[in-house]
Amino acid sequence: PAPTAGNVVWHAGDVRREERAGAGATIWLTGLSGAGKSSIAVALEQAMVRSGRPAYVLDGDNLRHGLNADLGFSAAARAENVRRTGEVARMFADAGVVAIVALISPYRDDRDRVRARHEAAGLPFVEVFVDTPLNVCEARDPKGMYAKARAGEISGFTGVDDLYEPPLRAEVVLRPESGDPVALAARLLDALNELTA
Ligand code: PPS
Repeated sequence: PAPTAGNVVWHAGDVRREERAGAGATIWLTGLSGAGKSSIAVALEQAMVRSGRPAYVLDGDNLRHGLNADLGFSAAARAENVRRTGEVARMFADAGVVAIVALISPYRDDRDRVRARHEAAGLPFVEVFVDTPLNVCEARDPKGMYAKARAGEISGFTGVDDLYEPPLRAEVVLRPESGDPVALAARLLDALNELTA
């Protein structure tokens, strides 16, 4: 049990969701390193904010500079990375903001737990599989990480010697090979408007 189990009581607020600034949601981009998650997230954030919809990117690399600076890449650390980021996203969504998450989030159970937390709170959770094949990510290798992983300088690298479990029921599947981030973000925005209408 958690150290606080039994001694902490939920204190509800007095603001109803309809009273808040906008309709919040979490858009969860999952995929391999170098798949294009961050570029799509940034383009989507820009398109939303410019159309007057509050949105904010929660990017795995960036969060690992602060909120998640204590976490590595073991299965337990990745699970905690996903859990913590999922909780923050859920709060953004509850506050009326669209949280756009870009995290490898390689394990299905971890992502499904975040989905369940959103569903329990009545908040939309849209899983987006950024389905760029490993060979394409590896050919791009924007940060030289795959080369290091193949050379044995990094161990447990997703797609090389650590598992990536593709979503089984993603609301949206994007194949970034067939479009630039801005066009993909526009497609994603259309899909989201349909899903959250
Ligand atoms: S996770 O799996 O969701 O916790 O990962 P995430 O927080 O999205 O961080 C992924 C970025 O960290 C770099 N990196 C690694 N990725 C995968 N496996 C290992 N072992 C690893 N070590 C460092 C990697 O560059 C990822 O960058 P992105 O932004 O995904 O391309």
